[in-house]
Amino acid sequence: MVKARIAVVGAGVIGLSTALCISESLPDCSLTVIADRFTPNTTSDVAAGMLIPHLYPDTPVYQQKQWFQETFDHLLGICNSPEASAAGIQLVSGWQIFKMVPNEKIPFWSDAVLGFRFMTGKEMKKFPQHRFGQAFTTLKCNSPSYLLWLEERLKENGAHLQKRRIKDLWELHSDYNIIVNCSGIGSRTLMNDLEIRPIRGQVLKVQAPWVKHFIRDGDGLTYIYPGVHDVTLGGTRQKDNWELLPDPQTSKTIFDRCCTLEPSLSAVQDINVKVGLRPSRSAVRLQKQTEVRGSKTLLLVHNYGHGGGGFSVHYGTAKKAAQLVKECIVGLEMSRHKAKL
Ligand SMILES: Cc1cc2nc3c(=O)[nH]c(=O)nc-3n(C[C@H](O)[C@H](O)[C@H](O)COP(=O)(O)OP(=O)(O)OC[C@H]3O[C@@H](n4cnc5c(N)ncnc54)[C@H](O)[C@@H]3O)c2cc1C
Ligand SMILES: *[C@@H]1O[C@H](CO)[C@@H](O)[C@H](O)[C@H]1NC(C)=O
Ligand SMILES: *[C@@H]1O[C@H](CO)[C@@H](O)[C@H](O)[C@H]1NC(C)=O
Repeated sequence: MVKARIAVVGAGVIGLSTALCISESLPDCSLTVIADRFTPNTTSDVAAGMLIPHLYPDTPVYQQKQWFQETFDHLLGICNSPEASAAGIQLVSGWQIFKMVPNEKIPFWSDAVLGFRFMTGKEMKKFPQHRFGQAFTTLKCNSPSYLLWLEERLKENGAHLQKRRIKDLWELHSDYNIIVNCSGIGSRTLMNDLEIRPIRGQVLKVQAPWVKHFIRDGDGLTYIYPGVHDVTLGGTRQKDNWELLPDPQTSKTIFDRCCTLEPSLSAVQDINVKVGLRPSRSAVRLQKQTEVRGSKTLLLVHNYGHGGGGFSVHYGTAKKAAQLVKECIVGLEMSRHKAKL
């Protein structure tokens, strides 16, 4: 096989997991992860890292289910190993509650999580404004720990990490055979993909070690996600808003909404505010592309646009992207072979 030089652009959960899958399936390649932000400064660092899918309207549901199932099973394996603590992965049980009974009482991902059931009348008593609820156990990544753990695994496999801002993917043409684009919201300027747009999320990270159960309102707006080091209180979904500075009034309304669901939170003292821009798109872009400029060609694999659910499907999409990279290498070999004849 050709010793291909591969660059992965992006060091959020998508770039790092994609790079790791590539380094495992193509151990003979030279691999570099290039990004202008690494942990703890990416959007992925802001995420609560809960494995609860977010629906992409233009990606087939069976596909989303497969990505979620693969991601869940992969992380459950890590969670059941001595690596769990270093990787920041835990199981967490809780409730998703609805003010109105949803059309789909049983979501497509119900058999991918553990112990999915409807909440009992006794459980619902805690939420007098809600009429229906689902109880289940899922996984949560402590995002900065998980990203750091992925970086460590990559370095062990011989990959290089490079801090650099890319203006145009063609800058990488002479140094790499294949470029994998995992640039998240950066894709808007980098690929000129105007389909990708930010959905701003503001969250509070608080110290409330007595809160062990997650609570999520089915509207997706208000949630309480306990983690190993802190509890994430959310949130907002603000379309086309690029503001990275926290808004104090928004923090107050998030806190009030969460206290309505979990009154014990009003005792919280220490509040840390974070903002991230979800790289939103109607479908995840996961495909090969060949760009031609004059006599030069650039082999690209895209893996971006994971919106509000990047953690939930990252491993499934990373595996698929690694397979696309493998197909590119086979193509490279065939064209070299032809050139020799
Ligand atoms: C408040 C909030 C809560 C969330 N909670 C959850 C959750 O509980 N569960 C879940 O599944 N998802 C959640 N998400 C969504 C999740 O965070 C995203 O889907 C995921 O982080 C996207 O990962 P990414 O790697 O594509 O992007 P990013 O983490 O943004 O990484 C992009 C990378 O590309 C690099 N880059 C971009 N442009 C360039 C350039 N021109 N040159 C060089 N490098 C470049 C950046 O430096 C960065 O390293 C949440 C998001 C937010 C904002
Ligand atoms: C994260 O950002 C801070 C502040 O800009 C910077 O000092 C730090 O070096 C960055 N960390 C990494 C790993 O890039
Ligand atoms: C990645 O793809 C997006 C969308 O096509 C594009 O906007 C962005 O410029 C690409 N990134 C790079 C580094 O080329």
